[in-house]
Amino acid sequence: MATTLKITFKIKRYKKTADEKFLKAPYFENFKLEVDKNTTVLEALKKLKALEDGSLTFRSACEMGMCGSCGMIVNGKPVLACSIYCHDVIKKDKTITIEPLQNMPIIKDLVTDIDDPLNKMRSVMPYWDQKSKTNNEPKKACPQTPKEKARIDEATGCIKCMLCYSACPVYGQDKNFIGPGAGTLAYRYEADSRGINSTEKQQRLDKITSEENGIWGCSFVGDCSSVCPKQVDPAKALQLLKIKGSIHAAIKPLKKIFTCTSLNSSLPINNPTASWWLQNKTTLGYFLRELSAIGITLWAIFYVLNLSFPPLFTNLQSLTNFIFWFGFISALGHSISWFWVGLKITTPPSPSKSFLFLKFTGLISGWILISYLLISNLYGKF
Ligand code: SF4
Ligand code: FES
Repeated sequence: MATTLKITFKIKRYKKTADEKFLKAPYFENFKLEVDKNTTVLEALKKLKALEDGSLTFRSACEMGMCGSCGMIVNGKPVLACSIYCHDVIKKDKTITIEPLQNMPIIKDLVTDIDDPLNKMRSVMPYWDQKSKTNNEPKKACPQTPKEKARIDEATGCIKCMLCYSACPVYGQDKNFIGPGAGTLAYRYEADSRGINSTEKQQRLDKITSEENGIWGCSFVGDCSSVCPKQVDPAKALQLLKIKGSIHAAIKPLKKIFTCTSLNSSLPINNPTASWWLQNKTTLGYFLRELSAIGITLWAIFYVLNLSFPPLFTNLQSLTNFIFWFGFISALGHSISWFWVGLKITTPPSPSKSFLFLKFTGLISGWILISYLLISNLYGKF
């Protein structure tokens, strides 16, 4: 026989006015019920509704900690009512206090309006779609390694119970703050190895790093993580997002330059993988071509202008040789790639005459320079 205890449930009631338009002032109502050690708080509420007051209102569905709909505050802590036993939370005076979740409008009794947190979760675009790849590649399987999957496992466990929103003091003060749940969801899709080229990824980062309602409001109190019934750790997710957001904000101006001046497609240079570079050969070629300009510049400085080397370099002969060949190969590669990458990615749809004049002048003068440098190296300067 299971031991039973007579418990007083102190339930905060929010009743509606007769016309159902407004809430009356809240008050605590006491109910007594004998429960055994296997009775959850949700089961106790159901019994009270059936035996004591049919108007007692609360939300529930799965009754097994999966759907997240039975969130409420029990003895001052946000919990899932179906996941805790009355005997485990009973106070010394044999009472259990039950209130609705905080920081959200009350609909009735223990039922809160979770539209705002839900909309915030929707706003971070919690999905990825291959169709939105910038290069319009056809759909194909996107396998994940166990390691890549493990990176998002924790955040994937979120059941949208909104306990974290109830516990978050920042959200309590400022409803514009995106909040722990939406931050966790955003992190889950940002850290996902799939869909890295998707436009959602860029838009999501823009959204969560925006000054008005982004992630920066989080002051790392950590209450969200301590109440999460799924050990999701929203506080950690938000801090990791801050790092990602900072990198995104830092490289965004650079990305704009490349996107506006040279590349027709957006360039996800915040998180390019080796396979991304290989799939986007034009962009790879563009960067390699621009890098080769370093060799040309070195060549020009050390060879054409005949500057003296710093005393640090003792083996002048081998350094000179290295710079010559490095510069020569760079210049040759830069000039040859003009026909492939240079022209392809910098030509507007209908090039003007002056644009074409500039491009060809650059090409011809480049080849004249290379020829001069080569000949002068072989036969002496003239
Ligand atoms: S992060 Fe945890 S507490 Fe917040 S909504 Fe998800 S499961 Fe609930
Ligand atoms: S009823 Fe589904 S989590 Fe409690």
